Amino acid sequence: MTVQRHIEVPTEGEVSRIPVALSDRAYDILIQDSLLDGVGDRLAAFHAGQSAVVLTNSTVRRLYGTRVKRSLCRAGFKTVTLIVPDNEQAKSLKWFSAVLDELVKRRCERSTWLVALGGGVIGDLGGFVASAYLRGIPLAQVPTTLVAQVDSSIGGKTGVNHRMGKNLIGAFYQPKLVLVDPAALCTLPARDYRAGMAEVIKYGVIGSEGFFEFLEAHMEKAMGLDPPVLRKILTCCCRTKAEVVAEDEREGDRRRILNFGHTLGHAVETLSGYRRYQHGEAVAIGMVWAAGLARCLGLAEIDVENRIRALVSCAGLPVERPPYRPAAVLRAMRQDKKVSDKHIHFVLPTAIGKVVVQPVSEPDILMALRTASPRADRDGRVSRP
Ligand code: NAD
Ligand code: GLY
Repeated sequence: MTVQRHIEVPTEGEVSRIPVALSDRAYDILIQDSLLDGVGDRLAAFHAGQSAVVLTNSTVRRLYGTRVKRSLCRAGFKTVTLIVPDNEQAKSLKWFSAVLDELVKRRCERSTWLVALGGGVIGDLGGFVASAYLRGIPLAQVPTTLVAQVDSSIGGKTGVNHRMGKNLIGAFYQPKLVLVDPAALCTLPARDYRAGMAEVIKYGVIGSEGFFEFLEAHMEKAMGLDPPVLRKILTCCCRTKAEVVAEDEREGDRRRILNFGHTLGHAVETLSGYRRYQHGEAVAIGMVWAAGLARCLGLAEIDVENRIRALVSCAGLPVERPPYRPAAVLRAMRQDKKVSDKHIHFVLPTAIGKVVVQPVSEPDILMALRTASPRADRDGRVSRP
């Protein structure tokens, strides 16, 4: 499975419009600096409701809440802001229910917009709330992290975590619009920016050797938020995601490639209690490990694993082995949504830009985890020198 094509990149100030072709649920991703000041006008163009609930957290509200609220008010929207905690724990049934309580209390209507302003946590929770309240209200994704701008705001996967596993409860619910303001990334802490780079590298591995080579050549500039490099990255990633989602909205087949690095990544997140690793860091560990698994299974040359490891490392992301006992990791993987017929499926790179999705037997997984794992204690944790 590959995605290869020439991509037009807009110049500074230009708006880039990327369509997500989903017939009656089609929408655009718009990328432009200062788009946060235009949220109100963009929503008003739908001629739908005139009220909006902005869902965010205190960090993002402090940075961008006033600008977004002002823009909504200027465009004639009656606006309220709801704040949830700034951590992965907000992606829970507890907070899902608390936000719904607020919408009911405030008598929000079917035409009320839910504006998810923040990273992937806000987008996933907000999208799920929008899907459920009155059986669906209009949703605008306004992503402010790199993970959210290249991945989570697009494609309609919404939901919350369960203590037994990541994203186990949720719905497919597409937004009406995704508004990407690259300038918002300037305030993102370095660790969060790096975490997003894992999803960026993912797009190169699953679909485009050319894009992967671009990243190999420009990672330093990318890490320094060089505007033209960042624009190219956002445009390439959003286009690839839009194209894959348009072809396979509900992950029947092709969309599964977007899960590269995620089977192990989600297990690592779950085992760490969503604390030690950020989502992108866990995905980075998962991508390097999956490349090693592909090599162990004879599907890829060692060069593939080495290039992925080198690029992930160059982005300052962890390439370490999963720091938990193999049996605990395997148990966590069995909870993954991608288990079908009791088989755990992996996205495995056979070359840069080319992946296959296939089940891997538990003995093979354990073997790969064992050869990759240092000694662990009885709780599944490992100590490192
Ligand atoms: P996040 O939402 O927790 O954001 C990371 C941190 O950055 C938070 O502290 C947030 O407050 C802060 N922040 C956000 N924007 C900022 C800005 N512009 N400046 C300063 N700080 C800012 O984490 P994330 O990495 O964006 O998202 C991770 C979540 O996304 C995970 O729950 C993951 O499962 C989910 N995800 C979903 C999909 C999907 O398809 N739905 C895809 C990938 C990831
Ligand atoms: N982030 C994986 C997907 O959207 O399918």
